[in-house]
Amino acid sequence: MADIEIRSVRKTYPGAKEEVIKGIDCKVADGEFLVMLGPSGCGKSTLLRMVAGLEVISKGEIAIGGRVVNNLEPKDRDIAMVFQNYALYPHMSVFDNMAYGLKIKGVAKAEIERRVKESAGLLGLADFLDRKPRQLSGGQRQRVAMGRAIVREPKVFLFDEPLSNLDAKLRTQMRVEIRKLQGRLGITSLYVTHDQVEAMTLGDRLMVMNGGAAEQVGTPLEIYHKPASMFVAGFIGSPAMNFLPGRVTADGAAVELPGGQVVQTDRVRQGAAGRPVTIGVRPEHLRPAGENDQGHTFVVQVDLVEALGADTVVHGAAPGFVEPILARLPGSAQVKVGDRLDLAIAEGELHLFDPTTGRALP
Ligand SMILES: Nc1ncnc2c1ncn2[C@@H]1O[C@H](COP(=O)(O)OP(=O)(O)O)[C@@H](O)[C@H]1O
Ligand SMILES: [Mg+2]
Repeated sequence: MADIEIRSVRKTYPGAKEEVIKGIDCKVADGEFLVMLGPSGCGKSTLLRMVAGLEVISKGEIAIGGRVVNNLEPKDRDIAMVFQNYALYPHMSVFDNMAYGLKIKGVAKAEIERRVKESAGLLGLADFLDRKPRQLSGGQRQRVAMGRAIVREPKVFLFDEPLSNLDAKLRTQMRVEIRKLQGRLGITSLYVTHDQVEAMTLGDRLMVMNGGAAEQVGTPLEIYHKPASMFVAGFIGSPAMNFLPGRVTADGAAVELPGGQVVQTDRVRQGAAGRPVTIGVRPEHLRPAGENDQGHTFVVQVDLVEALGADTVVHGAAPGFVEPILARLPGSAQVKVGDRLDLAIAEGELHLFDPTTGRALP
């Protein structure tokens, strides 16, 4: 049993002026799988390494299973970490690679044997225990690295981009395996990735990080449907959310776009006339307008059509916009370059942001 509490944690590297972690708070429940997601350099590894005990915590506290670990050595924290570069010992067998950490700790031989065999069974490695790493596929090697963590029977798993060295297909497969395994073992897990699909499919909850801060913590669907900021909205979803800058109209019932088109929405509050706002709408939430959509639409000129089979992604130009506006339509949509396309936004799927702060408007 181990929950993790991260309390107002900050990090400044020795000799550096700027904080790289700027006050993060988060509680991870016992058995929960929390994914820390964000672009390269936002501080994901730093935060994870502070939980692991590989970096000093400059300010704040981290507790594992109710015990503050700030001053505990990594080996005393009951954690096991799986890295991107899992570096197996090439001259050792799979068995010895998995057993190595336990031998060092002085665990009894019979107990080592039991734990390695059990983990190998879980990971589908039972028939490979005598092999050397070079006689394994990339996926099997990654499983050995997982096995090395599992045999330690830790209270917490820490993963730092463990799948980034694998090809796309294997990554998808291993993602499913990790999720199932974690579910079966029920071990509290923190998982770092910059890959939003990986994050969405693995996490019970996600922490979306930006510049050393947590922009939002929530379930994958909360984050998808109710992004707290333009950063989060733009980071989750592919193709990315469209942002349409505009101004609230004089009657406060619509947003006027730069080219003069007006999109109605009841979401803008009275008294906000003239206020700059940015509409956010996901490509999958735009569709060709019908009779009942009046007012909730805008027109684009189609300048690229990507027929992907299941879907067709349409790139449209609108007056006053530099960036193309993307719509993900069903694969059956009949659209061609040069068409004028009237696109409708469902009211429930229209997001509004403050363009200055980037925060979602209530
Ligand atoms: N040992 C270090 N010393 C100084 N700065 C570091 C060190 N490690 C990372 N940083 C800096 O801290 C910031 C966050 O890095 P990191 O946690 O590795 O981000 P991420 O894992 O999200 O890519 C980056 O600006 C990086 O250059
Ligand atoms: Mg990193």
